[in-house]
Amino acid sequence: MDLRIRGKRALVTGASRGIGRAIALSLADFKVDVAINFFRQRGPAEEVARQIEARGARALVIKANVADERHVTRMFEEIHQQWGGLEFLISNAASGVLKPATQLTMHHLHWTMDINALALLPLVQRFLTLPSNGEKVVVAVSSLGAVRAIPNYTAVGASKAALESMVRHLACELAGKGVRVNAVSAGTVDTDALKHFPNREELLEETRRRTPAGRLLTPQDVANAVVFLCTEFASMIHGQTIVVDGGYSILA
Ligand SMILES: NC(=O)c1ccc[n+]([C@@H]2O[C@H](COP(=O)([O-])OP(=O)(O)OC[C@H]3O[C@@H](n4cnc5c(N)ncnc54)[C@H](OP(=O)(O)O)[C@@H]3O)[C@@H](O)[C@H]2O)c1
Repeated sequence: MDLRIRGKRALVTGASRGIGRAIALSLADFKVDVAINFFRQRGPAEEVARQIEARGARALVIKANVADERHVTRMFEEIHQQWGGLEFLISNAASGVLKPATQLTMHHLHWTMDINALALLPLVQRFLTLPSNGEKVVVAVSSLGAVRAIPNYTAVGASKAALESMVRHLACELAGKGVRVNAVSAGTVDTDALKHFPNREELLEETRRRTPAGRLLTPQDVANAVVFLCTEFASMIHGQTIVVDGGYSILA
């Protein structure tokens, strides 16, 4: 399959594990060079780099906290120096405090908002300063918790709602400047992130049982939608949040 993205250059934040890793490898399958951002664990990021190179694309491993503007600036400087430009920005890295709303502190809220929602703005601003070969594409990874109430998910859900709103505003402002901005909102995926859920087993079982498509979502399912949004086949999709959940969220 030729998606006409060969030779493009992408930054995927939080690409060392889970959904970000699947996005990075999927882009590399189509010969897109990928800068792999991580923050804490270098080993898994380097393993993703090896797998990208084995697919015949270039890889760049960059440690940076997306919630720290100085780190973000440095990350884009390094990409500029190494590759000269960038076409795709995939804002996937996320963290967050999972607790009942009554136990959340302002520190928990700021921590979650900074990484999951506010980081998108400096990422996009620095992205705009880099040269590109044709259209630029931004895809942010969101979750159903932006629009649904999920136990222990108040902080993350609110951060994802803010993220999706920012996607719409950025899309509107940047569409005329050759930049397309969208989000992919995923249902439950069994990644490391789920290990922090106090009710992980229950959540997975309930999701499997209620999903019309009859199985749990995989990181690859989410990556497929992200790759599609990067292509010219999605050229008139602007400011949308595409839901990938096997039909879970359409049920009453
Ligand atoms: N799993 C789900 O059920 C699910 C559902 C819907 C949406 N999502 C969304 O999908 C995305 C990926 O989730 P996941 O489940 O794949 O997560 P994950 O397995 O926990 O991986 C998180 C990734 O983000 C990186 N990261 C965390 N904080 C960072 C920071 N401050 N700066 C830079 N990188 C950072 C981690 O690297 P280090 O460990 O090295 O820091 C890791 O590569 C997130 O946006 C999440 O909200 C997940």
